[in-house]
Amino acid sequence: MSKFYITTPIYYVNARPHIGHAYTTIACDMIARRHRMLGDDTWFLTGTDEHGQKIERAAQAAGKTPQQFTDEVSAEFRALWDRMGLTYDDFIRTTSLRHKQGVQALWRRIADAGYIYKSHYTGQYCVFDELYVDAVGPGAPCPECGRPTETVKEENYFFKLYAFQEPLLKLYREQPDFIRPDTRRNEVISFVSSGLRDLSISRSTFSWGIPVPDDPKHVIYVWLDALANYITALGFGSADTTNYDKYWPADVHMIGKEIVRFHCVYWPAFLMAAGLPLPRGITAHGWLLFEENKMSKSRGNIVRAETIIDVLGTDALRYFLLREIVFGQDGSFSFDALVQRYNADLANGLGNLASRTLTMINRYFKGEVPYPSHAAAHSAQEDAIAETAKKAITDFGAYFDQFQFSRALESAWGLVSAVDKYIVENEPWALGDKDDELSRARLGTVLYTSAEALRIVTALAHPVMPDATAKIWAQLGLGDIKNFDLTELRWGQLHLGTKLGEVQGVFPRADKSAITRMQNMEERNATGAGTTAPPVQPSEARPQTESASTVAGSTPSAAAKPPAAIPDGKISIDDFTKVELRVAQVKVAERVKGADKLLRLEVDLGTETRQILAGIAEAYDPETLVGRKIVIVANLAPRKLRGLESNGMLLAASVDGGKPVLASFLEDVPIGAKLK
Ligand code: MSP
Repeated sequence: MSKFYITTPIYYVNARPHIGHAYTTIACDMIARRHRMLGDDTWFLTGTDEHGQKIERAAQAAGKTPQQFTDEVSAEFRALWDRMGLTYDDFIRTTSLRHKQGVQALWRRIADAGYIYKSHYTGQYCVFDELYVDAVGPGAPCPECGRPTETVKEENYFFKLYAFQEPLLKLYREQPDFIRPDTRRNEVISFVSSGLRDLSISRSTFSWGIPVPDDPKHVIYVWLDALANYITALGFGSADTTNYDKYWPADVHMIGKEIVRFHCVYWPAFLMAAGLPLPRGITAHGWLLFEENKMSKSRGNIVRAETIIDVLGTDALRYFLLREIVFGQDGSFSFDALVQRYNADLANGLGNLASRTLTMINRYFKGEVPYPSHAAAHSAQEDAIAETAKKAITDFGAYFDQFQFSRALESAWGLVSAVDKYIVENEPWALGDKDDELSRARLGTVLYTSAEALRIVTALAHPVMPDATAKIWAQLGLGDIKNFDLTELRWGQLHLGTKLGEVQGVFPRADKSAITRMQNMEERNATGAGTTAPPVQPSEARPQTESASTVAGSTPSAAAKPPAAIPDGKISIDDFTKVELRVAQVKVAERVKGADKLLRLEVDLGTETRQILAGIAEAYDPETLVGRKIVIVANLAPRKLRGLESNGMLLAASVDGGKPVLASFLEDVPIGAKLK
């Protein structure tokens, strides 16, 4: 069994997760899943990058302490990855103790080896990129992002990067796969060849970072801190280095192309200085563009994964990103292209192949995989399908190993099209209408061949679309796909007489309204009415003037407005908007011991999961509520009922002498959407 260690970049918590972040994480998840299917001892790491000036300022702007702010946004990343079913083995936060200790241990090793010295730095710094730049003069634009740089004049610790210029060039020469793809490798070689200068690796004018060992006036440069996550998460620098000993060096550091320099120059240099093994390879993918520009918070052109998941499902997003975009290059995202691809390849492609093949086996062979005749009813067509399938298995693996995921999927879908054509040409439905023995034998052969091809595509596509393929696998009567050993995948392994599971469509066709729905959801989100605006926590202090003007019984401030114009019994719109109503989805529902009327619910608000206690146990069985979308008051102060904390209240009509009927919607609504 070989080991396989793959990492994503750790994401900055100044922005909420969007499909650009999801892209990298999905790619790693898919690779990790394939390696697990191949029997490798796989470790998949992701996490959040939480220190540095950029985060400190973002927290300030949000009126929160950096720790409070990073706790919240980091939890959002994790919650989204969980909602998407991403199979990371560990989630590292750079504000965790284990990381801090590991970073300081790495610093010490580099310092002990003589590669750190103290000096003065005067120059420009780009806070957005957390990068020292060569630009000259106050406010000079950053050569990477064009934003104005800030002048830094500090006593700093420096890393002797210059000493690694030659060793790095030797590394790139001797290990051509160290940086993929070649375009990035060439860029790095030219950057390093043009000359490296020593690098400032500490800051002393702010404090949101990891203190330099023995000199806590300084915090460690955020990129040294962040890069170290790849080893600190494995226990480097701690008492338990089992995972470090087992998994390091990483097999793949997956990154976006904008952070190549940090990973391909600084990181191997830090490791060389510390005398630690280097990662085997760094793979940079391109950018996801939206309306021609890199999707990013600062450009305000992001699309959230939640929108796509709610409308088309996670598998659709995964397939689209990996099939539509040539890995390594930039690629555009659009809702039109997403739905088009979904319908063509999934609804009409794999989904249709599965449903028609399985339905016909049900209809004509009582749901048991039929016998493929090798004599009378066999034609060259079956040989051709078997050949296409064998080639798909080989090509898929080869392309996959070269990070050419789009081509890998193309080769598997080549088999889907070939079988589609084969089914159309052989008209099994017409054969099914005939009674003669030859037609029956031929029908068995055609359906066996189709089902076997379906099994092969399903196994290959499993790492890309885990949910749908697991369903098809079970419908094929093959049980849990998790138990399948991908190294064993060959043509002809589908057993005769295999009893199919219950057949259900996996990719319902999407019509134009799916596009509009997604666009509306994103628009609503952009205008603040959508799903990612974090629900206001009851404990969050509002500015005094605002609360004083609205909260009954509080002392009126100078800014308070007289409530005179509002007739008796009515409330002002301001009063109403104080109530935060949101759509939530019930994830868990159970009775509360000793309380006949009470249910304990866990509801998903898109950005967090909450516990709510509701007096609806006499009207609703808990099982019937799971998955249901309800409306809750999201900013109600928490209260305790039967010793359990309730964080919000659900809305229900009160009928028939008090029986509750839950508020719900006729249209599908996204989780977290605000009612107003
Ligand atoms: N915190 C650093 C990385 C430290 S790793 C030791 C950072 N964080 S980030 O939040 O800006 O995330 C960058 C990564 O998110 C990119 O490298 C890429 O993997 C992913 N993406 C963010 N926006 C993206 C696109 N628009 N398109 C593709 N990937 C994108 O840099």
